[in-house]
Amino acid sequence: MTLSAQEASSLSTRGLTKSWLTCPTRRRPPHEPNCLIQTEWDLTPISLRVQGEREGKSAMTLVVRPARPDDATAIARVQVATWRTTYRGIVPDEYLDSMEEEPRARYGRDVTSRDAEAAGKPFVVVAEDTGRGVVGFAAAGPERRGDPHFCGELEAIYILQEYQRQGIGRRLVREVVQRLLQRGFNTMLVWVLAENPYRRFYEALGGSVLCSEQLTIGGKTLGKRAYGWDDIRHLAGTPAHASK
Ligand SMILES: CC(C)(COP(=O)(O)OP(=O)(O)OC[C@H]1O[C@@H](n2cnc3c(N)ncnc32)[C@H](O)[C@@H]1OP(=O)(O)O)[C@@H](O)C(=O)NCCC(=O)NCCS
Repeated sequence: MTLSAQEASSLSTRGLTKSWLTCPTRRRPPHEPNCLIQTEWDLTPISLRVQGEREGKSAMTLVVRPARPDDATAIARVQVATWRTTYRGIVPDEYLDSMEEEPRARYGRDVTSRDAEAAGKPFVVVAEDTGRGVVGFAAAGPERRGDPHFCGELEAIYILQEYQRQGIGRRLVREVVQRLLQRGFNTMLVWVLAENPYRRFYEALGGSVLCSEQLTIGGKTLGKRAYGWDDIRHLAGTPAHASK
């Protein structure tokens, strides 16, 4: 999700190139015990609620919770807005300017309405500022390309620019990781555009570069990089500085 179905496949599958075949993750032995896919979708409500004082701004109450189908429009809005602020100068302007929210919202509704019943499917968590609505989201699920070592995948994580660097990203990752662990996934990878300066976020969380590939977005060839975590358990308890 995150990326609309189209973008998700763009960022994760269109880059299938020779380099994938030599990707080091492919050479690792499978960790069978980590790869159990549970049969139930767990939607236990997340009871995290923190008061955060934003610099120069009023206090916010942030709730991180599973996404509902009626969040789909807000998630699409966050996705499009954050793509534009993040990828301007990296992804061609024409592509960014022509992004539409509605097809993404349709996809989001689809994913979130399937979540409750489907095993081994992607899931979405949102960060909601109770005064403003959804300000960020993360989508994750089983790794999408059959990697033998990395069983879970952070498919996307987007937070509105004015809410960044306040610990919300860590909070969303923590929720994602807890849910992946509940599903039996102890490992995780994420793909990020090589030119995206926010890849430092994954480095700060201890991700290691696994391999690189190329993909085309809006007619421009770009590099993308996979970061991986061999053991995500420590991320489940990462303290969130938003709650300090
Ligand atoms: C990447 C993103 C999800 C991180 O969430 P966040 O709430 O801004 O990050 P956090 O406040 O939790 O930051 C945690 C740590 O990551 C690192 N970090 C985060 N963003 C960073 C950046 N732009 N540059 C360098 N380090 C960064 C820092 O070490 C930070 O800790 P600190 O603030 O105490 O120094 C968010 O900034 C975002 O949505 N960015 C734009 C979209 C994007 O690039 N998404 C990823 C696509 S693959």
